[in-house]
Amino acid sequence: MTLICAAERLSDPGSFGFSLESAGERVEGFVVRRDGEFFAYRNSCPHTGSPLDWVDHQFLDIEGTLIQCAVHDARFLIDTGECIFGPCPGQSLESLPIKILDQNIYLLSID
Ligand code: FES
Repeated sequence: MTLICAAERLSDPGSFGFSLESAGERVEGFVVRRDGEFFAYRNSCPHTGSPLDWVDHQFLDIEGTLIQCAVHDARFLIDTGECIFGPCPGQSLESLPIKILDQNIYLLSID
């Protein structure tokens, strides 16, 4: 289990990008907070594999209702990571396992 950040680091809705070492693997990812729930995905767009953010920690659209890829404007559901608009409809972001403990967000081991 690897610390990502304090839960209070994210506004609601909000997002936070991270790059850390977990079980010998470099994991580039981000966490999204919405309605008090947290979701985490790899920072790799299913369209081309590039990172989604063009500003650090900014992964949501302006309304804060969808995850947005800044490269070609794909939009993804926050709770499932499914693309519902843009160049890769039906494809999904890869979710990452997290746990909230003592007001902190942790990345769990990836199988
Ligand atoms: S790389 Fe994300 S929409 Fe093209």
